[in-house]
Amino acid sequence: MNIKAEKMGFDSEKLRQFLKEQLADQEAASPQADAASTQAGDPPQPPSPHFDFDLKPEELEAYLDQYVIEQEQAKGILATKICTHFNCLNLPPDPEEDLIGSIKNNVLMIGPTGVGKTYLIKLIARKIGVPFVKGDATKFSETGYVGGDVEDLVRELVREAEGDIETAQYGIIYIDEIDKIASSGNGIGIDVSRSGVQRNLLKLMEETEVDLRSPHDLASQMESVMQIQRTGKAERQKINTGNILFIVSGAFSGLDEIIARRLNQGAIGFRLKQDDTNDLSDLPKSDLFRQARSEDFMEYGFESEFVGRLPVVAVLDPLSCADLLTILRAPKNSVILSKKRDFRAYGINLEFTDEALQLLAARAYEEHTGARGLVSAIEKVLIPFEKKLPSTDIEHFELTASIVEDPENGLTQLLDEHSLQSFIDAFATDHGIQLHFDAETRELVKNMAHEQEKSPRNLCDNFFADYGHGLKLANLQEFAITPAVLHEPQEALNGLIKTFYEGNR
Ligand SMILES: Nc1ncnc2c1ncn2[C@@H]1O[C@H](COP(=O)(O)OP(=O)(O)OP(=O)(O)O)[C@@H](O)[C@H]1O
Ligand SMILES: [Mg+2]
Repeated sequence: MNIKAEKMGFDSEKLRQFLKEQLADQEAASPQADAASTQAGDPPQPPSPHFDFDLKPEELEAYLDQYVIEQEQAKGILATKICTHFNCLNLPPDPEEDLIGSIKNNVLMIGPTGVGKTYLIKLIARKIGVPFVKGDATKFSETGYVGGDVEDLVRELVREAEGDIETAQYGIIYIDEIDKIASSGNGIGIDVSRSGVQRNLLKLMEETEVDLRSPHDLASQMESVMQIQRTGKAERQKINTGNILFIVSGAFSGLDEIIARRLNQGAIGFRLKQDDTNDLSDLPKSDLFRQARSEDFMEYGFESEFVGRLPVVAVLDPLSCADLLTILRAPKNSVILSKKRDFRAYGINLEFTDEALQLLAARAYEEHTGARGLVSAIEKVLIPFEKKLPSTDIEHFELTASIVEDPENGLTQLLDEHSLQSFIDAFATDHGIQLHFDAETRELVKNMAHEQEKSPRNLCDNFFADYGHGLKLANLQEFAITPAVLHEPQEALNGLIKTFYEGNR
């Protein structure tokens, strides 16, 4: 082979073109070209023996119920269609049945941000144990490599399946922000490319063969050229998308208005007869979305063929403040678990009081980003603690409502309290004497420490330097530090010893 890359000056575009030509020439010349390829149009073989699926819709739904709050309708629809899809794959092929042109169970999910769309699909993929990839529809229109990018998702599925093409052919591809490839008709963005993405995607969603080798990936192109050089044959591996399940989702803002307009038009006709003055604008968006028809999606900017490939629609509801609190209280909730884990990494046991959770849920709700708001609400409060506590020897930290309300003061209080306690503990260890500080005295110690720009421990070490010896002289096992003692520590100790000796005289 004579790749004269150096002569071409490493222009990647030229190199890519050069490789393409080399490949085309060599494949044409190779007598065994395509010998190892799947014949186009071959249906994929039945699932491999290790793909043993017998889950029933209600079992999958019950599994989702353990993790996902609300969204009953979406859980039901997804559990049903996904179980049916995979159970059908288990059926032996029946020559009597004419399934050519049958429609797959691809699902469209509609819902606002942070209400569980991605979460549901990830849980399902984990439960079923099939490879899963997630892509973002906005990427396809942006890069310009329209077709290539969409197909990259299929190749990624093979990577997820650790190179096992057969397993990859039974995977799930989840594409988010699908509403962004609707041609808007308002001149923003290039509608031609959006319709192009839709067409490329619908080919995949139905059934097509995707070359494992990406036309955009220099390395894989070069590898192929070298392989032909070495072996004299082009081993073309293809992935059939016939059994890959596609789930797409988006927020579809504005679709509700299209639906309302259509329903209103119907209602006007109806109203003329009935004198009914129903106003649809008061309906929650999700109720309107549930009435979506193909014509609404087409008006929104989808090609009819594209809508036709998505026969099942699952609508997710916005989460209420109470739902957010339920999410936080749920034992398997990942928001709290992952935050605890962050602190555990520093040897700190983090706990949350229920009042703190209630406040956090209320704050998250105000952000209007669904459960995503929970993470940001918690982070906002905890970051100063996550920074400071690892440098201390604090091993336990309970997040209370008052800390949520004023994290800065909460952190100061925590550090001061810990500092004072460490003095009390050290005093007990060094002298065998237990000191007591009531609430008022504790506050006073902290204030004095702040005034003197010392830590409470430092201040007490200074103030009570002679107390170990003095209290032993007075034969005391415990002693209460009062505000009076704090104001005049030396005098208080002298008085104490004097009284003791006078009493014993
Ligand atoms: N209904 C729910 N029940 C329990 N937890 C949830 C729910 N919805 C969201 N969460 C939590 O919030 C996180 C973010 O949700 P998810 O990724 O599913 O959002 P999304 O609906 O895909 O939003 P986006 O449109 O922004 O991608 C999840 O990982 C999960 O921890
Ligand atoms: Mg998502």
